Amino acid sequence: MKRALVFSLVCVLGLNDFARAQEHTPHTNYVLRCAGCHGMNGSGAPAAGIADFNGMVGAFTGIDEGRTYLMHVPGVVGSGLSDSEIAAVMNYVMETWAGSSLPDPYVPFTASEVGERRAIDIPDVVENRREVAALLEALGIETADYPWP
Ligand code: HEC
Repeated sequence: MKRALVFSLVCVLGLNDFARAQEHTPHTNYVLRCAGCHGMNGSGAPAAGIADFNGMVGAFTGIDEGRTYLMHVPGVVGSGLSDSEIAAVMNYVMETWAGSSLPDPYVPFTASEVGERRAIDIPDVVENRREVAALLEALGIETADYPWP
């Protein structure tokens, strides 16, 4: 009887709603989906083309092109997270590691912004980062070291 009730509840709610009720916190999503490459301390692996977040990563959020770049990095593209989870985990990264590189005021990502920016076609993210880094450099804003060929 109890099991049947749970089953029909799941049916009524729909599996999507059920899954949504299981959403992780941004910290847990970071640990599960990002830390493998970026490390628990956000320091990445610069020699392997994964830049250090610390005191740097906020620079991208200050310009339009940078915000679009962030929505096309490999971990975001392949994360399987919803737009709202991506917004939350990216805001978490910024709040945790960007430090003084974060523009003041910081404009947090929202689910709808994530959706719009993900729909933009960015065929080559490595080339895109170079273009964005050059735009920032022209504004006198430094980005993290990135020795990727
Ligand atoms: C499989 C390894 C991998 C995983 C997992 C991963 N990333 Fe990344 N990330 C990369 C690489 C590689 C780059 C550099 C992309 C490029 O070439 O521009 C990057 C770049 C970034 C950058 C930009 C840093 C900079 O200075 O250019 C951010 C922010 C970022 N990732 C966030 C995340 C978040 C948030 C997650 C989890 C949802 C995540 N990443 C998961 C590999 C990964």
